Amino acid sequence: MKLWGGRFKQGTNDLVNDFNSSIRIDKIMFKEDIQGSIAHGRMLGKQGIIPEKSSEKIVDGLNEILIRMENGVISVDPTSEDIHSFTEGTLTHYIGPCGKMLHTGRSRNDQVTLDLRMYLKKAQKETIGYILDLETVIHNKAEENISTIMPGYTHLQKAQPITLAHHLLAYAEMLKRDIGRIQDAYKRTDEMPLGSGALATSTYPIDREFVAKELGFAKVTLNSLDSVSDRDYVIETLSAISMIMMHLSRFSEEIILWCTNEFNFVELSDEYSTGSSIMPQKKNPDVAELIRGKTGRVYGDLMALLTVMKGLPLAYNKDMQEDKEGLFDALDTVNLALRTFAGMINTMKVNKENMRRGAAGGFTNATDLADYLVKHGEAFRTAHGIVGEVVLYCIQENKCIEDLSLEKLKEFSPIFEEDVYEAINLLTCVEERKVFGGPSSQSVKIQLDALEKFIEETEGGL
Ligand code: ARG
Repeated sequence: MKLWGGRFKQGTNDLVNDFNSSIRIDKIMFKEDIQGSIAHGRMLGKQGIIPEKSSEKIVDGLNEILIRMENGVISVDPTSEDIHSFTEGTLTHYIGPCGKMLHTGRSRNDQVTLDLRMYLKKAQKETIGYILDLETVIHNKAEENISTIMPGYTHLQKAQPITLAHHLLAYAEMLKRDIGRIQDAYKRTDEMPLGSGALATSTYPIDREFVAKELGFAKVTLNSLDSVSDRDYVIETLSAISMIMMHLSRFSEEIILWCTNEFNFVELSDEYSTGSSIMPQKKNPDVAELIRGKTGRVYGDLMALLTVMKGLPLAYNKDMQEDKEGLFDALDTVNLALRTFAGMINTMKVNKENMRRGAAGGFTNATDLADYLVKHGEAFRTAHGIVGEVVLYCIQENKCIEDLSLEKLKEFSPIFEEDVYEAINLLTCVEERKVFGGPSSQSVKIQLDALEKFIEETEGGL
């Protein structure tokens, strides 16, 4: 059903009908559109704006339509202009002229942002749930690898020994903040805009608080112009999703590296790998690569809406109809990425011995050798210089620091004694870093406990 047309002499050009229509995208909000309409219809009757009997008929009709839609008895008419036109048209078709009262004191401008907020609140919680599932996988993998020593890198050059648990828990922290960002966006999504009308509310004695309560919103929006113009809540959700994808893409990049023959730190399960049509030996980390690739697409969704909204005058403009496609795409993408990524990590085999061997090369214990000198009275900068010379010697001789005899070490500094070997042992290097936040098993256990508590509390609040 067309919701307008009285002032037009000619019908709409077919191409324009097609171009103008958003039903292909907004049909997935049919449930929210009907639920919002039920709350509005109920309020109209309660306030005496329409007869109580008509209100009841509207509410019953809408409930019936919702059931039939959910059962697949009726489906969205693809020729409708949008989901709002479809709902109102279907209602009138089912209950007769009384359906024409539903739109009293309401505009599609406040209706569309109501629907979108309702839809998004559910979606935000769903995504948080998927992040929590991944957090659980990371927690368990980390717990299994508290003593799996691996090289830590800066500039992708071996730096200092850490453990796989410590490395994995770095991502757990990023994902915790990602959840925080979505929770924060949720707070601002949780405001009820209906009653703002087209832009300037209405002259009817509507009860916005009642509608907010019916639909489970924390509060009503304060300014009607802002209410119909605001898409900040979509943009900040897209931004939070972009950040999740950025984190997943960094993690993916490391998985891709770790799977290479050169690193060979992990092996992905067959279930989460793919092959080549020509090279029989290939086992490719496509899942990780695709997540890295899809990050670009989600950034695109964010940039698209920022650009759509840039410079728009108040209040509603049709440009804003472009808000939903990118949001839905980004939500689908991040949810699928989170779920697939969690499965990939969960089934990944860790080559502990290769990780340890990797940590043994590249002089990752050089800082500890310098620290040994410092702890025996040398100034750090001087110690740094001495160890630099030790490393240079080792490179020339193709040796590790621990291969040098005490006699040789003493040529660089008389401070070195037999206990230096213990001090630069990889396990010591890791375990002595007991500082809060560090890689020692003691510090990592604190991080693991904090993660477990976070998962429990966040799940409880969903
Ligand atoms: N389909 C529109 C959208 O998604 C709904 C609002 C249309 N309002 C209007 N006055 N044309 O933004």
